[in-house]
Amino acid sequence: MIFDTHAHYDDRAFDADREELLQTVKAAGVGLILDPGCDAKSSRAAIALAERFDFVYAAVGIHPEELAGWDEDALGEIRALAEHPRCLAIGEVGLDYYWDDSRKEEQKLLFRWQCELALELDKPVIVHDREAHGDCLAVVRDYPRLRGVFHCYSGSAEMAKELLGRGWYLGFDGPVTYKNARKTLEVLEICPADRMLIETDSPYLSPVPMRGKRNDSRNLRYVIGKIAELRGLSPEEVERVTEENGRRLFGL
Ligand code: NI
Repeated sequence: MIFDTHAHYDDRAFDADREELLQTVKAAGVGLILDPGCDAKSSRAAIALAERFDFVYAAVGIHPEELAGWDEDALGEIRALAEHPRCLAIGEVGLDYYWDDSRKEEQKLLFRWQCELALELDKPVIVHDREAHGDCLAVVRDYPRLRGVFHCYSGSAEMAKELLGRGWYLGFDGPVTYKNARKTLEVLEICPADRMLIETDSPYLSPVPMRGKRNDSRNLRYVIGKIAELRGLSPEEVERVTEENGRRLFGL
């Protein structure tokens, strides 16, 4: 079965057809989905979805783009939700200097608080790193026992080697099918098979040939196809190995 380890089915882009779509996605061979929250409200929604669908699990956290929603109440709620039995990880959390690099210190503080929560609860972390590679690496270096995935990995091969050496997993998404994917494909070539995860980031990041449309987990077949081609594996092997990896990292 396919394990989509990063899909935001709580997003309002799915309001019109969420239930039906999830059934369709499951019938198409996607047997496991992990839905990460981006703030307290969407983390709550992710948990609610995970309670309703037996093949959906949640992660909870405050995304760096949601800095405005960060206060004591929100952190308290994330902590409480993180202990829910359907919550497998802390995420999506991290640093994003692409949209706003004016509050770097605040972003780092929020990221660190959530890394420490993950350690305290012994859960992996789902890291969002956009244009913040050096600082993300610096934070995770400070927590050598921390494990998780760098979601939609976009750093260098050199940084990937360090993360892999530290026990991290790398997430590959629709962009591996894009024309400008050279750097990510280099990383995909050196990533050990037992450390790669496949993700959609639905409703975003649709792979070619669905680019520009709303994404859903069925489109992982294009990401699987690209990995299979690049690594000389069959699509079935890519599907099997990434499912095993996801189960191992998230404790399923
Ligand atoms: Ni995401």
